Amino acid sequence: MRSSIVAALSLASITVAGPVSSPTATDPVNVYAAQATALTRSPTSNVKGKVFDRYVSIWFENTDYDMAAADPNFAFFAKKGITLSNSVAVTHPSEPNYMAAVGGDYFGLNGDPFIAIPENVSSVVDLLEDKGISWGLYQEDMPYSGYQGMSWVNQKNGANDYVRKHNPEILYNSVVTKPERAAQIKNTTMFFEDLKNDQLPQWMFITPNMTSDGHDTSVTTAGVWLRTFLEPLLKDKNFMKNTLVLITFDENETYSIENKVFSVLLGDAVPEALVGTTDSNYYNHYSEISTVEANWGLFTLGRWDVGANVFSMVAADTGDRLRKWSVPQTQYFNFSYPGIFNSAKWAPQPVPDCHSNRNGRTTLPKIRDTWIKLQGENYYHGQLEIPDGYNPPVRS
Ligand SMILES: *[C@@H]1O[C@H](CO)[C@@H](O)[C@H](O)[C@H]1NC(C)=O
Ligand SMILES: *[C@@H]1O[C@H](CO)[C@@H](O)[C@H](O)[C@H]1NC(C)=O
Ligand SMILES: *[C@@H]1O[C@H](CO)[C@@H](O)[C@H](O)[C@H]1NC(C)=O
Ligand SMILES: *[C@@H]1O[C@H](CO)[C@@H](O)[C@H](O)[C@H]1NC(C)=O
Ligand SMILES: *[C@@H]1O[C@H](CO)[C@@H](O)[C@H](O)[C@H]1NC(C)=O
Repeated sequence: MRSSIVAALSLASITVAGPVSSPTATDPVNVYAAQATALTRSPTSNVKGKVFDRYVSIWFENTDYDMAAADPNFAFFAKKGITLSNSVAVTHPSEPNYMAAVGGDYFGLNGDPFIAIPENVSSVVDLLEDKGISWGLYQEDMPYSGYQGMSWVNQKNGANDYVRKHNPEILYNSVVTKPERAAQIKNTTMFFEDLKNDQLPQWMFITPNMTSDGHDTSVTTAGVWLRTFLEPLLKDKNFMKNTLVLITFDENETYSIENKVFSVLLGDAVPEALVGTTDSNYYNHYSEISTVEANWGLFTLGRWDVGANVFSMVAADTGDRLRKWSVPQTQYFNFSYPGIFNSAKWAPQPVPDCHSNRNGRTTLPKIRDTWIKLQGENYYHGQLEIPDGYNPPVRS
């Protein structure tokens, strides 16, 4: 008896002392071992923005615009804010849309595979850290902070739960190769912990699990989840601190029609006079980066973020001019262009615009230094018009 306990103990200590399990391992033994020791960080900051001091985006899945607008719970939030009636996803399927919303391009990705973006590609967190603005991602049911596996299923019933393809910053090597950054990609258990401790960051991205975000269910389930999650937060002093919340969807469900997504801006940063209104300016997922850049006077990524319209309630104060683009009949945003991640046609890694200037905002110096030698191959010129597979980017 006694010796078997000793044996079990020494076996346990061998396991603990053994090689650290890989953050991409998905089997429960490795996941639980990594969970026990995972680094979690919750840095905070208080950098005043021109219009808002905190930005929160909450992403849902695969729902056509009209279906979302008709759901009573999404409609409930629309009444509390500004409905963006001309907000368009950038392609299909999911992963490239999430990737684009933080990095300013999707590099031709046309599926949901396991990919890692080269370390020399920056994302919005580089811009935020440069100005001392805290950030964090909250992914429902991610098993531990910094987990890089493809997915994690519900251990009781095997149902889909967390997926890497819906976790934008985990895709960037410029993030995950730095343990202190990976430690800021957390689950919603940590969200409630950070909320309670008044340690939420100033920029956050929230992804509900595959049930809650409507992916494996319906917009009704997603709406009920959102009501349960967000309604109490709207009255929580630790959440509402001149906060702008964006509710959006990654993509429209039907590939053969315009890829418009239902989106709402709300929170205590939205002026009273704009509550319950509709904004029909043209936006896409790149507006989520340009708006944050305009609000805090950040540098740019020198990619599609530079030309993207800033949400008008913010642009009104930052002096960003809104541009009109009525998407031509040949642009459906349902097909990806060639690129380093395109499974059908490869194209070189695009070079960011090192000389970007949008209302005085220029390219992050670190990006400029990395890419300046290759400016001739840059295809971003601050344009609002973005490519799709039928209208691929044209190198200058
Ligand atoms: C997808 O978006 C378009 C444009 O808003 C909308 O008309 C359509 O309802 C959506 N999808 C479907 C299947 O209806
Ligand atoms: C960026 O990284 C990729 C992948 O490692 C590499 O092929 C490319 O040469 C790098 N480009 C620059 C300018 O550093
Ligand atoms: C959430 O992440 C924390 C930090 O890594 C971990 O301790 C906790 O077990 C995770 N919660 C769930 C439900 O997986
Ligand atoms: C997803 O999240 C909801 C609550 O937000 C929870 O009830 C459910 O168990 C989670 N996972 C799955 C697979 O449904
Ligand atoms: C994109 O939509 C257009 C217009 O409906 C359709 O003709 C085309 O086949 C679609 N492309 C893909 C890849 O689904």
